[in-house]
Amino acid sequence: MPLYYLTTPIFYVNDVPHIGHAYTAVNADALARWHRLIGDEVFFLTGTDEHGLKVARSAQEHNCTPQEWTDTTSARFSETWKRLNISNDDFIRTTEKRHHLAVKTFLERIRDRGYIYVGEYEGLYCVGCEAYYGEGELEAGSLCPIHKRPAEVLREENYFFKLSAFQEALLDFYTANPQVIRPQSKLNEALGFIRGGLEDFSISRNKKSVSWGVEIPWDRAHVVYVWTDALVNYLTALGYGQEDGRWESWWPAVHHLLGKDILRFHGVYWPAMCMAAGIDPPGHLQVHGWLLVGGEKMAKSRLNQIFPGDLADEFGVDGLRYHLLRDNPLGPDGDFTYEAMTQRYNSDLANNFGNLLSRVATVIEKGCGGVGPAPNPSSNLKGEVESHLGVVIEAWGRNSPSEGLEATWKLIQLANASLEATEPWKMQSGPQLDLVMGDALEILRIVAILASPAMPGACQVLWDAIGLEGSPGSAQIPQDLKWGGYCGGIQVTRRSPLFPRKK
Ligand code: ME8
Ligand code: MG
Repeated sequence: MPLYYLTTPIFYVNDVPHIGHAYTAVNADALARWHRLIGDEVFFLTGTDEHGLKVARSAQEHNCTPQEWTDTTSARFSETWKRLNISNDDFIRTTEKRHHLAVKTFLERIRDRGYIYVGEYEGLYCVGCEAYYGEGELEAGSLCPIHKRPAEVLREENYFFKLSAFQEALLDFYTANPQVIRPQSKLNEALGFIRGGLEDFSISRNKKSVSWGVEIPWDRAHVVYVWTDALVNYLTALGYGQEDGRWESWWPAVHHLLGKDILRFHGVYWPAMCMAAGIDPPGHLQVHGWLLVGGEKMAKSRLNQIFPGDLADEFGVDGLRYHLLRDNPLGPDGDFTYEAMTQRYNSDLANNFGNLLSRVATVIEKGCGGVGPAPNPSSNLKGEVESHLGVVIEAWGRNSPSEGLEATWKLIQLANASLEATEPWKMQSGPQLDLVMGDALEILRIVAILASPAMPGACQVLWDAIGLEGSPGSAQIPQDLKWGGYCGGIQVTRRSPLFPRKK
């Protein structure tokens, strides 16, 4: 069975999860579910990033210890993901013991191999990014280009990682493996960073300035820089640093999904750190753009956040998931608007998906005694359906849920158009009506499988309503997509509309 290891960034716990975080989580979840359908053994990881100055400061503002604070705030993420039906196999918190162990092992490897030294550092630091900036990278008034807040001067003696030693190795790696970073524009951006020259960076903080972190194993006066700590999570979850050889079978064929804000860390620092530790760099980085609100990135500091729970209350969990996946392809930025979401919901979910099921169930109740008939083995819809399947499979294969869903909805349109042409609601009961309805049920069955990575809840309801057992998410692609899978002779249930129309 092919292995598919998929990760999201681990999110900072200082924020509450907004739809930008949900965008990453839902895309990752859909990909994980897709890969389960095609028979891969999936390990899907998400979690929270809980160390560093930013978190320590918010704990202080809330009058609690960092541990208390992260316990509360990490749960906001795990609870939100539960609500959104995110099927992660593990949820990592960087405050866990297994992670401290992995970070220590990883750093000791790097040090033993000669890539860590002591040095003095002074620089402009953005606490929001937990990163140093060069003068030239800041906006007027020393403002961080992402957070629009002034960077602070930090000076300390700490341990440095010899990033500069990896410039050639990274260029060679990406030249030999250009497919590692998708889309190509992001590969070019990473190459730009690398060609622009790599400076060593500090991987520790003196406890006098930051104490909330993993201790440097050979010098307890220091903690590990939060980004160095955070990136290692991808290995921790595989058992790295413990007596567990499992990680070697899953690595380096990892699939990291991440936003463009953290490309430099994942496309430059992380592969170099892996090389320094004597392991292969990560095999796949899928970079996505930002979900913007009114043209700006959502941020606590800008008070323009939109919360996934609010949208799920209104559009249903699957209404939200579908919109995020269908309207915001992985790669470019997307603008979130309530209007676009409502429009997509009405057209694709209420008028197409939901309406097809209602129509079919109504006609079967009246004309077929509530029993779903089998499809026509030589239906003229068969060939058309098959031609769309290839498009769906190909699109998901290149991480394009948006196009995969677009092609899936062609099947729904096909079924609706065929019903409009044959008007089964005007037909007499009998073999003729049975064939028409059997074909529609077969398309519904196939759609339930293909749309299940996006809308696991609604597709299960559809599956049950047409009398099938088990779950569409347990189907196997391609074998279960073969025309004729709907056996017929089973109960079809009419139910209240799945996606009531919005005004
Ligand atoms: O950077 N649109 O955590 P973070 C799309 N802890 N995606 C968005 C988004 C938006 N408006 N806002 C956030 C960190 N994201 C580090 C990561 S990984 C080893 C450490 C998503 O809480 C997107 O995936 O700031 C982005 O890369 C991530 O959240 C940043 O989350
Ligand atoms: Mg961020």
